[in-house]
Amino acid sequence: MPFYHKLGEIPHKRHTQFKKPDGKLYREEVMGLEGFSSIQSILYHHFLPPRVQEVEDLGPAKPEYEDFGPIRHRALATADVPAGGDPVAARRALLGNNDVILGIARPTKSMDYFYRNAQAYETWWVHEGSGTLKSQFGNLAFHPGDYIVIPFGVTWQMKLDTPEARFFTIENPSQTVPPKRYRNAYGQLLEHAPYCERDIRVPSELETHTERGQFEVRVKVRDRITRHMLDHHPFDVIGWDGYLYPWAFNVEDFEPITGRIHQPPPVHQTFEARNFVVCSFVPRLFDYHPEGIPAPYNHSNVNSDEVIYYAEGNFMSRKGIERGDISLHPYGLPHGPQPGMTEASIGAKKTEELAVMVDTFYPLHITKQALELEKPEYMASWLEGDGE
Ligand SMILES: [Fe+2]
Repeated sequence: MPFYHKLGEIPHKRHTQFKKPDGKLYREEVMGLEGFSSIQSILYHHFLPPRVQEVEDLGPAKPEYEDFGPIRHRALATADVPAGGDPVAARRALLGNNDVILGIARPTKSMDYFYRNAQAYETWWVHEGSGTLKSQFGNLAFHPGDYIVIPFGVTWQMKLDTPEARFFTIENPSQTVPPKRYRNAYGQLLEHAPYCERDIRVPSELETHTERGQFEVRVKVRDRITRHMLDHHPFDVIGWDGYLYPWAFNVEDFEPITGRIHQPPPVHQTFEARNFVVCSFVPRLFDYHPEGIPAPYNHSNVNSDEVIYYAEGNFMSRKGIERGDISLHPYGLPHGPQPGMTEASIGAKKTEELAVMVDTFYPLHITKQALELEKPEYMASWLEGDGE
């Protein structure tokens, strides 16, 4: 979240001498996006940041997409995906294009190496499990419902407090931020925004590690993974300040915007990034017009592929959708409630549904791993009844 924060010790003036108790210098690192013209932080390290003992290519890290075939609505069942591995290793890319890669992960153990995605922001939406995202910016505890947003270039390690966890993941080579229309000219969140700065959690505890030894950092960049072996712990920061750091926002802190008649999807918008948006469907009261129809109208979202990860509750407009399913309503054909769902919604006062939606402005491709999870009957779910 782009607002100013600092942790630990920093010198009074940037780019000046900052000495350790033994008189040696701490090593300053400016970490900034878009060539010193976007958000940045300044970190003070115990060791020289460029110091890497060994480098090794671990191979390609680009999703392999399959032919989409005829345009149709699709659904994927992720609930029973086998669990195993650490969060990064457990991640499966399911849908993607040049702007975003969507996936899921069901890890069963903490990471014993460090990871840095230098080519994308990563957002981990926590469906199940809790733990701590550790980084050179400090510790950030997470629990179900959190969007953990990790900027480009952050070196991190995820520790799980639970035997298992379940995540919906969003990876994008652009910044993930609150929508511009929620913010004033100074970046502050406005009164009509569904959340405010108080709802954003930032790293709170800075652990400074000065251990020497063998430390593995896996760096994702140029669509490949490189292994860097360091002779010092990568979390050697004594202090930092700035606007760039990982942060978390819990979906329970999203205040739903409701109305007398059905509100359009943008009221659910949570974040924006280049060529896609992230929305949160949260438990809320329904429309209160006496003739209102709470279920959504049919819609042709002509320039938008719509992906929904269904987390909790029952999904009022969807038949055949279960917890952990992902639907893809691609552009090129309309979508809306299945037969009977519109009538069933009339008179309902509230919903307990919880879902995360990603709308992309360019078509999404599908991976082989996604095809293995496909529910082929989904497209036929609009065919029940007489079609009226
Ligand atoms: Fe939709």
